[in-house]
Amino acid sequence: MALGEVSGSLLADALGEIAADVDAVFDALLPVPEDARARLVEAMRYAAIGGGKRLRPLLLTATARLYGVDRDAAVRAGVAVEAIHVYSLIHDDLPCMDNDALRHGKPTLHLAFDEATAVLAGDALHAFAFEVLADPAVSADPFVRIELVSTLGEASGLRGMAGGQMMDLVAETSTFDLPTITRLQQLKTGALLAASVEMGAILGHVPQEGRTHLRGYARDIGLAFQIADDLIDHEGDAALAGKAVGKDEAAGKQTFLTLLGPERAREQARMLVEQAVAHLADHGSEADLLRAIARYIVERDH
Ligand code: IPE
Ligand code: IPE
Ligand code: MG
Ligand code: MG
Ligand code: MG
Repeated sequence: MALGEVSGSLLADALGEIAADVDAVFDALLPVPEDARARLVEAMRYAAIGGGKRLRPLLLTATARLYGVDRDAAVRAGVAVEAIHVYSLIHDDLPCMDNDALRHGKPTLHLAFDEATAVLAGDALHAFAFEVLADPAVSADPFVRIELVSTLGEASGLRGMAGGQMMDLVAETSTFDLPTITRLQQLKTGALLAASVEMGAILGHVPQEGRTHLRGYARDIGLAFQIADDLIDHEGDAALAGKAVGKDEAAGKQTFLTLLGPERAREQARMLVEQAVAHLADHGSEADLLRAIARYIVERDH
């Protein structure tokens, strides 16, 4: 069997497994209460269960596996990151932001429910993420739990996703240079992907100085990921992507594509992936899944 096929099935199996595991944890931790909050939890479940590639939990569990971390604990931490991601998508799709009608191949939450419920479902998933990380089921070690909480907090807020989303809105009406677009993307998308890798290492008790190569890997795949997302928006297929395409151009948004054009952007993404893989050179076959994820990030169509 060719190497590509081996890493292909490794990745396909891992994607299937993480999707099932993440769904099971969301399902178990979000029972619908028999009172007036039922609609809120139904909305959270609609957005969180059964959609998405689960890339962030996959990155977290694949990193944690390098260091022999218990899988159930790593999946729980992955669910926390995914809860932040899902909340960010719910709010990103709202009429006051991207005003999108389709997500994961079904109507966006504010259309399936209503805007107020969508805002609250995002709020509740945001809080849920930190509750999950503070639970001893993730780690018996309180120092590990607090480091997970602070890492995800930083990656979600002003110095991460929310800060990047603000820059992204400003990018509709401003002209940004390449370093500024790079910073925008690192915050908007890169921060949560990097936090996923970092949290796998935290669970594995890897000291700061042992994480440098993982941070290099994460930074490179984060940028490559956003270039791929921009390419999907530019030339992808809405049916495959499960979301509307052509939105960035319609909004006049500055992205890697507007600055580099599709060919150079694609080339840049491929180079970043090779660079990401090179950061893993000191690992053996136990890092093959992380290598396969890096390649998948630029080759995906959704
Ligand atoms: C899409 O992220 C939104 C961005 C951060 C650019 P994903 O491609 O990871 O979203 P899923 O797989 O649909 O959840
Ligand atoms: C959203 O970026 C990134 C988030 C932090 C949610 P986009 O607006 O490009 O994501 P899509 O294209 O709607 O998935
Ligand atoms: Mg957006
Ligand atoms: Mg959007
Ligand atoms: Mg996009």
